[in-house]
Amino acid sequence: MQIVSGRKGIKQAADHLRSSNIVAFPTETVYGLGGMAFSDDAVAKIFEVKGRPNFNPLIIHVADFETANYLVDFCPQSLKLAEIFWPGPLTIVLKRANNSNVSLLASAGLKTTAIRMPDSQIALDLICEAGGPIAAPSANKSGRVSPTQATHVSEEFGNTIPCILDGGPCTLGLESTVIDFSGAIPTILRPGSITRQDIEKVVGEITLDTGKRPIVAPGMMVRHYAPSAKLRLNAKTKKRGEILVGFGPEAPQDSMNLSPTGNLREAAAKLFFTLRELDKRNIIEAAIMPIPETGLGVAINDRLRRASKNN
Ligand code: TXA
Ligand code: MG
Repeated sequence: MQIVSGRKGIKQAADHLRSSNIVAFPTETVYGLGGMAFSDDAVAKIFEVKGRPNFNPLIIHVADFETANYLVDFCPQSLKLAEIFWPGPLTIVLKRANNSNVSLLASAGLKTTAIRMPDSQIALDLICEAGGPIAAPSANKSGRVSPTQATHVSEEFGNTIPCILDGGPCTLGLESTVIDFSGAIPTILRPGSITRQDIEKVVGEITLDTGKRPIVAPGMMVRHYAPSAKLRLNAKTKKRGEILVGFGPEAPQDSMNLSPTGNLREAAAKLFFTLRELDKRNIIEAAIMPIPETGLGVAINDRLRRASKNN
């Protein structure tokens, strides 16, 4: 793993990103672990390296408002917030725009996208140099605190990531405020340095989700995408009326297959696309072949179990 910095470092990190690799980079809040937002493969690598037992949707980092406007549908209130607080530590959850090419895995299959413009010249330069928005969670392993220095990231990941872009210590050290505009009333999902009062001065009254939710698993609070098809998991073969979603080389040639070679990263990358595809094809019942409960397989199975219970 290389630790790079300066103008040359930004170029090196951007090269990694353009080859679908993931890199750690500084923002004003904490270090992020980024991949190109439109690359299912890069996003699957992020989840693999984070070691999360489930898919928590990621924040999409943009360097300009036009890109943000292309990826999400702003409402007048959220537009005002973006104008005032961007670049800065405010993440806004909005409806995903119809033309958005952001990886479905990045938003865990949701119809919303969390988006922010970081207030860090290095992060903004990296996004521009890479040529597109960056999907990134905080650069820590699951269940550990967010890193605010390059050395924290290297202690955390060692050689499992190819590159850390060192921008020195983060100025804020606290993750961004997350506000959700996808429901009836704007709701703060995660408090941060931009406070409820700061936001209410601009848009009037909002709610704070004080939830009885475990902080260790913020992804649990998010409503998950479930296909209308009924899913039967750990199926070896399909029954009458079912379509088979395969995994690995044993699956019949004519079935949908999450990964013909049995590669978990590929399966994660295709998972949400495949679930949506079932709906697009109006499939009523689907049999899903077993996915090994190791590495990314744990998160894939978690997601499939939820999707199978939701109907
Ligand atoms: O300051 C930050 O926000 C840092 C830097 C790197 O930008 N990032 C960060 O990401 O803290 P992460 O993944 O550790 O936290 C993102 C939070 C999670 O609680 C996640 O559930 C929520 O944002 N989130 C992301 N997409 C969402 C969505 N579509 N709907 C609701 N919540 C979402
Ligand atoms: Mg985090």
